[in-house]
Amino acid sequence: MKILFASSEIFPFAKTGGLGDVGSALPKALNQENKIHALSMMPLYRSIDRQKYAIEPLNYHFTKTLCGIVHPFELYHSKHDENIVFVYNETLCDREAFYGDKSGDYADNALRFGLFCYAIAEYLSREKFDILHLNDWQSGLAANIVKKIYGIEIKTVFTIHNLAYQGIFTKQTMTDLELNWDDFTFLGYEFYDAVNFLKAGIAFSDAVTTVSPTYAREIATAEHGYLLDYFINSNQDKIYGILNGIDIDYFNPAHDSSLSKQYDVTSMDKKESNKKALLKSTGLKGEEKAIFSFVGRLVEQKGVDMLLRALVHLKDMNANFILLGSGEPWLEETLKSMACENIYVKIGYDEDFSKHLYAGSDFLMMPSVYEPCGLNQMIALKYGTLPIVRETGGLKDSVVDFHDYTKKGSRGPGVTYHDNSVFAFLIAISKALSIYSDKKLFHTLKEEAMKKDFSWKNSAREYIKLYRSC
Ligand code: ADP
Ligand code: GLC
Repeated sequence: MKILFASSEIFPFAKTGGLGDVGSALPKALNQENKIHALSMMPLYRSIDRQKYAIEPLNYHFTKTLCGIVHPFELYHSKHDENIVFVYNETLCDREAFYGDKSGDYADNALRFGLFCYAIAEYLSREKFDILHLNDWQSGLAANIVKKIYGIEIKTVFTIHNLAYQGIFTKQTMTDLELNWDDFTFLGYEFYDAVNFLKAGIAFSDAVTTVSPTYAREIATAEHGYLLDYFINSNQDKIYGILNGIDIDYFNPAHDSSLSKQYDVTSMDKKESNKKALLKSTGLKGEEKAIFSFVGRLVEQKGVDMLLRALVHLKDMNANFILLGSGEPWLEETLKSMACENIYVKIGYDEDFSKHLYAGSDFLMMPSVYEPCGLNQMIALKYGTLPIVRETGGLKDSVVDFHDYTKKGSRGPGVTYHDNSVFAFLIAISKALSIYSDKKLFHTLKEEAMKKDFSWKNSAREYIKLYRSC
């Protein structure tokens, strides 16, 4: 079975969050299964280091004419990963960032990602695949373009990684991208008289997945449906929740070369060395104190405003807090201003430092307002760091409160809480401190966390089952 997997992010070439991780790890896991070949397609953004990744042209060209303008495309491949095809088109790729900058999203994102979708269709009109797997709004239009504009017969699976980001543009987009006005309806592209790329992905795909079973149920509610709950409900018979995994070759403390000391479940003392190294690099004091960390995009979804309110109390606690993230400028600024003797803040995107946090911390905080899946908690568990999570989306499906923990379940141990309130979050933190003070319990929970299997293997097989049933 041949799968074309389209994603606007694939790690290490492009990553702003979990989409980049999934974009590399899921196709890799699919390719480890019998008789499956997944080829991924992504834009060759300007920031991708062509020399470092030995990226070279494939001498494969095509054009797409829209409103009389000819848009040329050129395909590339990397000697580091022959299972990826990169698409180069100047409008799509030649930018400082992937989607926008501090002043907002790029104004021509509809055209840019419309062109990405046309590139997918052009490629499929030349190459034979059994399944087209699309991810998030950036590739959502392709579900319609491929089938209805190009008339290609192919089964299409669309994955929603985050319903909050829908790719909504004015209806002029219909004309600019030469889309089919017959599909500008309640059942198709149309969304409050605008064009919705994510809705198109849902409407025109044979199956739709989202990244955890709980989130699949949540998006059908007004609370998490971002005005699409009615539409999710009317498409319920083709929506599935499949929990993400993590790439356990990359996120593995036993081989992680960015750590000061590698460790596994039989050498947990070396995790302590990583804690010491972390204290040294951040200048925080007190080896005996627990370290609580946060890694993530600084946006409302991640509960950052609540974290800020909690920090007002946490600065008086006998524990250290380390926060790494980038995102909304006001959250970056406010977070920076919270730094003090026991709170260290790093604004920016830093893959190595994130690994130091997963390895050197005792707890990872995830007070998310909603969380489609979340990978950080799985990474933390793999590194023997206990997650403190709000019971929502994929956090609910991957972490179980230490009180209810039995070795048998598939979820990893942590501290979970229900209410989206500072009070509930602070109670969870104090529960974590009581675990920390019980050395035996803390050690056992860390060991159990590291033994849990969050690899992609099982979920990749669920996707294959779904591809076969389409
Ligand atoms: P989301 O996709 O919503 O951002 P996920 O939990 O699915 O959240 O995935 C986040 C991924 O991005 C993880 O690999 C995490 O380590 C990484 N990450 C997020 N923010 C940063 C940052 N500032 N620096 C380094 N890595 C980050
Ligand atoms: C999104 C979600 C996150 C999920 C990731 C990968 O960015 O916010 O919860 O883990 O996609 O699917």
